[in-house]
Amino acid sequence: MQSTLHPRPPAGLHTGIIMDGNGRWAELTGRSRSRGHVEGARVARAVVEGSRSLGIGVLTLYAFSADNWKRPATEVRSLMRLLRVYLRSETESCLENGIRIEVIGRRDRLPPVVVREMAAAEGLTARCDRLLLRLAIDYSGRDAILAAALAGPTSRREFGWNLDRAVHARTPVPDMDLLVRTGGERRLSDFMLWESAYAELVFTDTPWPAFTVEDLASAVREFDRRERRYGGLRPSRTAPGARVRSRTTAPTGAGTGSSAGSGVVTAHEPRR
Ligand code: FPP
Repeated sequence: MQSTLHPRPPAGLHTGIIMDGNGRWAELTGRSRSRGHVEGARVARAVVEGSRSLGIGVLTLYAFSADNWKRPATEVRSLMRLLRVYLRSETESCLENGIRIEVIGRRDRLPPVVVREMAAAEGLTARCDRLLLRLAIDYSGRDAILAAALAGPTSRREFGWNLDRAVHARTPVPDMDLLVRTGGERRLSDFMLWESAYAELVFTDTPWPAFTVEDLASAVREFDRRERRYGGLRPSRTAPGARVRSRTTAPTGAGTGSSAGSGVVTAHEPRR
């Protein structure tokens, strides 16, 4: 069975961000790639701070993919160092601001000192409930799905639990509502493949170090303009009694097995 410490995430949108473009931003501005990542961490800090006021309850940031190990050792080292420093420096302010930190992904390949910082950040902020900040580190959506399937689930619900367990997620979260990718590419890069089945995708050419909270607000406004049908029909053509709710309505069924959180039209809302 999974941990029941946090049966529910904070209410609000589940937003994911693929923070791409650090390297190109650095090259364009005559800085080193490491400097690009440092600026990226600064932007992550600002975006985390601004998220709650945009109605985001769960923010999943793709900080290091399982494929990022293919990068030069110096870049990997500087990213690991940055993640360690970020976790250490942000934990206190997350605690003060009610932000729960969770790290999802593999832990066995990370430097032990990073794993220690992750555990400390998670432990200290475990009771925070204003925003759930999930940092995806050494994360692969495909590997998570494979692990969940190989565990032999007997139901979709159990598959959801397996998926959480595969990436060490403590809090079951609703499916992703909004997925933003910066930096000009238009792909998922192995991020949240299962969870983003019905996510609204927003791509921007802005490289991550130049991204602002206003850009995130604009992505949320774009999300608000989209009509989510989950494979069904337009609201006016759905069956009488189809439930239509505002994004600002607090979710009622959040947790593994539910995609509650922000759906505008829920009549055909799929279940995990
Ligand atoms: C992609 O840019 C970004 C990464 C591989 C790392 C993301 C990490 C950060 C934003 C900093 C750390 C984050 C936190 C939350 C502490 P890229 O290097 O692939 O850029 P490029 O495509 O322009 O080369």
